[in-house]
Amino acid sequence: MDTLNPIPQHVAIIMDGNGRWAKQQGLMRVKGHEIGAQRAEEIMKAAQDKGIRFLTLYAFSKENWRRPKMEIEFLMGLLSSYLDSRLEKIVQNNIVFNVIGEIQDLPDSLQKKLIKTMEASKNNTGLVVTFALSYSSRREILLACRKIATQAAQGELKPSEISEETISGNLYTANMPDPDLLIRTSGEYRISNFLLWQISYAELYITSKFWPDFTREEFDKAIEDYQKRERRFGHTCAAGGGNP
Ligand code: FPP
Repeated sequence: MDTLNPIPQHVAIIMDGNGRWAKQQGLMRVKGHEIGAQRAEEIMKAAQDKGIRFLTLYAFSKENWRRPKMEIEFLMGLLSSYLDSRLEKIVQNNIVFNVIGEIQDLPDSLQKKLIKTMEASKNNTGLVVTFALSYSSRREILLACRKIATQAAQGELKPSEISEETISGNLYTANMPDPDLLIRTSGEYRISNFLLWQISYAELYITSKFWPDFTREEFDKAIEDYQKRERRFGHTCAAGGGNP
């Protein structure tokens, strides 16, 4: 292919390997999360500098509630202190802060901080950073089905009128384009219940680097790799269109 793809509009990341990174360094697992949070901040800046419009980070899955209580509390505390220390910068840097997932599962004080940050940044026009928290893609699809079924039962929608757009429009990500690129760190070839509907045509980039080692340079490599891919969207020849 002669021409490069444009910079992806939407990059989604499964930030994996914090625990293994910590073990490798002889440190506690939570230290991996702490350095991981710093990396997330670095990647947000890198995405902004590259002119990416949407960055979606898988920070805590619905399944992660099964982790030891101490680790969960540490992660909640990390998010909380991140919001305390970064709120002003998020607003100043023109970032729109967004959350997907079941935030009602999170501690009340954290929910309040998340809502405050979303409110404070909602009129910004730059990079939209979305944290997936207590997120499960199957559950997101299930909740969308319930909403659509309710509309149908109330006679607002005929079953034959339900389209792909109806489903997309009832997901948490209704106001975002689908990811163009999904990055997963730590070398696992899994999607782990993340954005299952939305990544139908995303390019996948899997690196063996653990998340705390996923620097701006590694991110740049992923974007360069994406730009060289031939995106076909199910067509037989390279195409720029987004429809299957
Ligand atoms: C996966 O590594 C990582 C998580 C479950 C948490 C991701 C959260 C962060 C990177 C922090 C983001 C927070 C802020 C405040 C920006 P793992 O623990 O599953 O690693 P392992 O598979 O090696 O055990």
